[in-house]
Amino acid sequence: MKLTIIGSGYVGLTTGACFAEVGHQVLCVDNDEAKVKSLQAGEIPIFEPGLESLVRKNVAARRLQFTTSTEEGVDHGEVLFIAVPTPPQADGSVDLSFIEKVAREIAQYLSSYRVIVDKSTVPVKTGERVASTIRRHAKPGAEFDVVSNPEFLREGCAVADLMRPDRIVIGGNSDRALALMQKIYEPFVAPVLVTDINSAELIKHAANSFLALKISYINALAEICEVSGADVLKVAEGIGADKRIGRGFLNAGLGYGGSCFPKDVSAFIAIAEQLGLPFDLLKEVQKINIRQVDRFLDAIREALWVLKDKKIAVWGLSFKPNTDDVRSSVAVNLVERLVAEGALVSAYDPQAMPKAAELPMASKIRFASSALDAAADAEVLIIATEWPEFASADLASLRSTMRTPLIFDGRNLLDPVAVRDFGFQYRGIGRGIVAERG
Ligand code: UDX
Repeated sequence: MKLTIIGSGYVGLTTGACFAEVGHQVLCVDNDEAKVKSLQAGEIPIFEPGLESLVRKNVAARRLQFTTSTEEGVDHGEVLFIAVPTPPQADGSVDLSFIEKVAREIAQYLSSYRVIVDKSTVPVKTGERVASTIRRHAKPGAEFDVVSNPEFLREGCAVADLMRPDRIVIGGNSDRALALMQKIYEPFVAPVLVTDINSAELIKHAANSFLALKISYINALAEICEVSGADVLKVAEGIGADKRIGRGFLNAGLGYGGSCFPKDVSAFIAIAEQLGLPFDLLKEVQKINIRQVDRFLDAIREALWVLKDKKIAVWGLSFKPNTDDVRSSVAVNLVERLVAEGALVSAYDPQAMPKAAELPMASKIRFASSALDAAADAEVLIIATEWPEFASADLASLRSTMRTPLIFDGRNLLDPVAVRDFGFQYRGIGRGIVAERG
């Protein structure tokens, strides 16, 4: 099928590449000329395992093409996916100006039937707005349908998530549009859930907020574990073994970050507020998430007394492993706060240093050439992101390069017993019983 994706960011580009991979003729539109040029050459602006080779292969096969022209895009695809950013505003609500602009542009070029699909994460009832905007700006009698098709991919495994999703959600109210959508997704082996537009839109915010809630729940439990002398890893295993709960997203740590969870939880609170329904449960989820970093910093201060002029090593800057994304990264937030207190931070991340180097805090820290280099002469090592290479660090070399053997493991990555055998003092998150034994 001929498909158009408007917006070649994380979601748009991965969706386009995967649609091309299963045989569709895909045209991706982006208004950034430089980006389009490099994408045409098969170069991608993000680190995402498997994506670059997929883009190259499908560009070479001419199934995946790029343009800056929305007009060309509207002409090419019978189905047009909108995958433009929906950033947060200062009050937490969603800025829908990019969506509105694309809707007006599509309307301008609409000449025969098109399905317009909202792929971006949008508040419930956005589909209705998109439809009325297009109706207002299109020629009288223009034929189109609007569909909601939220995307659930995770960074770091975006290609796998798209090729083998847990479910595909399609929200629409026209049989013609729904039939086309089902045809697009035929090559993907996954259950398809067909709903009305509002429900599909709501599913995305509800799913992400629930996952954030699970993380804050285990982090609140971690605090109880610390005080009561229990081990949050065992508690997570014990409760997660119940199929109704599930072990996923019960990893206690510094809390959730990234471009989705913080934004989507805030947005969902604002959406509920606008509907006259305060969502206090989610406000608590946010508070717990913020408290995780506060408590972690308190413990570091407790150990070092003052942070000013202390050499602190930080392993990890990306918001999670297997990505170079530093947007709303808890690790970056932590570094900023350490620097604000005068600490001398040496940081290392296997992928995220180029992106971190563009942040305001970059001039105030040292970017190390390796994990061990970051730890040289450090008084404390903080693990902020659980990259696999940190789990297999050479502990003997680490011990000899650090000034004082103190590890604060914000992601419960290391084995406390093994670490202690090398002479380190270790503190994880919610590992009360382990701390006692040490
Ligand atoms: C998330 C959703 O998972 C995805 O479905 C949606 O489409 C976009 O948002 P992503 O932001 O890529 O994906 O990352 P995810 O793997 O979900 O992790 C989000 C954050 O939660 C990370 O900061 C991670 O470190 C944290 N996290 C995750 C925990 O602290 N504990 C956990 O148990 C799981």
